[in-house]
Amino acid sequence: MGTSEKIYFYPLWLRIWHAFNALGILTLIITGISMQSSFETAIIGFNTVVNLHNIAGILVFISYLLFFTGNLVTGNGKYYLMKIKGFFKNLTKQGTYYAWGMFHGQKSPFPLSEKRKFNPLQKISYLLVMYFAVPIVIITGIALLFPEIIIDQTWGLSGVFLTAILHSTMGFLISIFLIIHLYIASVGKSPLDNYKAIISGWHHL
Ligand code: HEM
Repeated sequence: MGTSEKIYFYPLWLRIWHAFNALGILTLIITGISMQSSFETAIIGFNTVVNLHNIAGILVFISYLLFFTGNLVTGNGKYYLMKIKGFFKNLTKQGTYYAWGMFHGQKSPFPLSEKRKFNPLQKISYLLVMYFAVPIVIITGIALLFPEIIIDQTWGLSGVFLTAILHSTMGFLISIFLIIHLYIASVGKSPLDNYKAIISGWHHL
């Protein structure tokens, strides 16, 4: 494949963030679900699961700082900016392609290039996950680690309870994102192409 057909989309710092983040979030989802079900075996007690969840949470928090700063100081942040113009039209176009067009030999409506790393649906979902869901899950997670900083009562409900609800709701949304993310990442030149790209940094057009 010639050099003109591949783009260096994922610089090293981004790949490091993504690897720690993926590992951390997978651990958080597994331990999080297991805490909800009070899962316990002779080997992995409830306390071990809680400790694992806390450690993975701190890992995701630290790697989020890398993601956030990296996007501020390098050109990668520009790929997350959305235009209001044509917002719904473009999302519908991409949605129709994923649901119908790509199974009928149509060309991608938003082919990727140096200027466009994400199609509109990828962009909105990455934006919501990385600048809304993950920050909320981190902030509520830190609060739950230090519950004494949480306000006692609002609307007659315990602050810790409300924080925990918000924390697990966002965790649930991130889990749904991850399932869709894994599927959509397999839509490429060949099913493994994008997975190779997030490891090597090079995206093949
Ligand atoms: C086993 C877990 C995961 C795998 C195999 C995976 C795979 C991939 C692949 C193949 C890409 C590049 C292609 C694309 O942009 O679609 C990518 C990019 C991305 N992933 Fe994941 N992912 C995983 C977990 C996650 C998680 C948990 C999050 C966030 C909570 C996440 C957020 C992102 C973001 C924001 C990008 C774009 C980064 C950029 O180019 O600026 N991924 N992932």
